[in-house]
Amino acid sequence: MFGPKSHLIIRSNHLFIEDVDSVLLAQQYGTPLYVTSEKRLRENIRAYHSAFPNADKYFAVKANGNLTILRIAAQEGMGADVFSAGELSVVRMVGIPRDKILFNGNSKSENDHAIALQAGVRMSVDSREELEHLARTAQALGLEAEILFRVNPDVSPKTHPKIATGLRSSKFGIPAEQVAETYERAMSLIGIKPVGLHCHIGSQILDTAPFAEAANKMMDIAGAVVEKGGEIKRIDLGGGLGIQYHPDSPAPEPADLAEAVLPIFQDRSRDLGITPQLILEPGRSIVADTTIMLAGVNEVKRAHVNFVATDAGFNVLARPMLYDSYHHVVAVNRADASAKETYTVVGPICETGDVLARDRHLPPLERGDVLAFLDAGAYGFSMASQYNGQPRPAEVLVYGDEAEVIRRREDSSALLAGQRILPKLMW
Ligand code: LLP
Repeated sequence: MFGPKSHLIIRSNHLFIEDVDSVLLAQQYGTPLYVTSEKRLRENIRAYHSAFPNADKYFAVKANGNLTILRIAAQEGMGADVFSAGELSVVRMVGIPRDKILFNGNSKSENDHAIALQAGVRMSVDSREELEHLARTAQALGLEAEILFRVNPDVSPKTHPKIATGLRSSKFGIPAEQVAETYERAMSLIGIKPVGLHCHIGSQILDTAPFAEAANKMMDIAGAVVEKGGEIKRIDLGGGLGIQYHPDSPAPEPADLAEAVLPIFQDRSRDLGITPQLILEPGRSIVADTTIMLAGVNEVKRAHVNFVATDAGFNVLARPMLYDSYHHVVAVNRADASAKETYTVVGPICETGDVLARDRHLPPLERGDVLAFLDAGAYGFSMASQYNGQPRPAEVLVYGDEAEVIRRREDSSALLAGQRILPKLMW
C-alpha cells in the first residue's frame, strides 16, 4: 500500500477497509465485488469544502452513479453534473436540488432539452447550433432555459489523450474566440437566459498549471462577454483533478487546486466588477480512492508469462484496457507476505486485451486467493458491462465495522432483460 489512505489498513495479513476484513467480504458477498468506504467518501468531499468554502461542487455522476453514494454526496452538500436524462433522474431521486444541477452534453436531443427544461435545471450549451435548437424547444414549451456555455479553451491538460477534453481538436465546447458573440446571440433569444461559462479540460490531471491556464482563459472570455453587456453569474471550471494511482505519481490535493485557481478567479472577477458563483465538477478525486474492487483468483498459469486469471476482467474494470491505466493490486489474504513473484493479472473475457495489471510483484498466489484493485471507485462500476455474458458485480458500502449491499449482484436473468424471442421463431 502507499499514500495516506485512512480507510485501508493491513491487519494480521489481511486487507481491511475501515474495520471490515475484505477477505470476509469476498466470502460473504462473492467476487467480483466493489467495496466503498463511506468514511473516505465523506472525507474527500469535506476536503473540497475546506479548500473551496464558497464554491458550489457538483459531483460528476458519470464517475459513480450508485444511489447510496450519490445520497451521501447530497447529504454532504454536493450538487451534480449530469450528462444525460438518465443521470438527471438519478440525482433527483437522491434529493439534489434543481438549483445545484447542471445538465451537460455535446449531443443532446430535443427530448433531453425538454426534460431539462421541465425539470427546471440549468444546461451547458455546447455549440451555436445547440443554442438555436434549445431556443426553439424552450419557446414551444413556453419555458426559459438558464444556460452556461461550454467553452473549448484550447488547453493541454497533459493527460491520456482519450481523456483530454479541452484541446482545440476535442469534440467539446465552443471555440474560445466564438463564445462572446454566441453569448450576445443568446441574450437576444426568447426562451434563453445565458448566465455563465463552463469548461472542463480533461481528467486525471496531475499538475495544477493547466487549471490555472484554463481559469485565465475563462476570465478573458468573461471579460469579452461583459464588454458586450452580458451578465456572468456563474463560472464552472469543471472537474479533472487527478489522484495517486501509482506509488510514484503523487497527485495534487483540492487545496493545491484552490491555490492555483482561486487567486485568478477572485482577482480577475474583482477587476471585471463581477461576482460570479464558482462551480467545480469533481468526479474522480471525490470517489476513486473510496473503493476497492475484489476479484477472486481462478487460475495461476506458468507459461511464457506468469498469469493470474481472476473472475474480473475489463467487463468489471474497463480502465486498464481503455487507457492503460494503473490500479495498484493487493493480495488481500496475503497482504503482508513478501512479493516474490511477478504476475500479469488477466480476466475471464475472451480477448487478449483483457489485462488488468501487468508485471506486478505479488506473493505466490493460488486459486481461491482474492486480489484488491485499489482506487476503483471512479469510472469502475459505472463503465462495467455484461460483455461475454457476465452479469455485473455487487456493490457494498462499508462504515465502521459494518457492511451492506448497495447494489445487488446481477444474476443471469439480467442478461435477458428486455429481450424476447419472436413468436414466429417458436416452432
Ligand atoms: N465535468 C465534465 C463535463 C466531464 O466531462 C467530466 C469527466 C467531469 C466533470 C469529471 O471529471 P473528473 O473530476 O472525474 O476527472 N472514463 C475516464 C474518465 C472520463 C472523464 C469524462 N469526463 C477514466 O476512467 O479515466
